Amino acid sequence: MHAIDIDPSVPRSVFYRDLAGSLASLLEGETDALANLANASALLAQALPRINWCGFYLLRGGELVLGPFQGKPACVRIAMGKGVCGTAAARRETLLVPDVNAFPGHIACDADSRSEIVVPIVAAGSLRGVLDIDSPEPGRFDAVDREGLEGFVRTLVPLVRWSALIE
Ligand code: SME
Repeated sequence: MHAIDIDPSVPRSVFYRDLAGSLASLLEGETDALANLANASALLAQALPRINWCGFYLLRGGELVLGPFQGKPACVRIAMGKGVCGTAAARRETLLVPDVNAFPGHIACDADSRSEIVVPIVAAGSLRGVLDIDSPEPGRFDAVDREGLEGFVRTLVPLVRWSALIE
């Protein structure tokens, strides 16, 4: 077991800095890519308030395939360019969707989801997948979350052997 010591009352930018620090210490010394992504998703689920799903889709065989996550069972395969995840992956840019019902082509995995943020994962110039987080609250994610979660992914990238996750 790993105790997670993040103070939720600090400013959110500080919260995200602490979260990235927790991620680094949680994964320190472990080289198994799957285990590290599993723990990264568990850390997010424990630390982030007002979310109902968080996890990874990994680029495998040219499409996004469900990876470690926390939440209800989800759709397994998402084509590049489809849904919020496939669009963020194709553009290689973070997508912040305040109202999932207003996003053309949004793929509904959990009917509770109202807003969503998807951060692409790019390691050494190669797209490896996306981090996807859903909230039951409309407009749950803002620019602070975007910056904080992009920082989370930047911390994660060198701590995972992405090549071990390719089929
Ligand atoms: N809503 C996503 C699909 C994944 S689930 O949210 C877990 C999308 O539109 O790509």
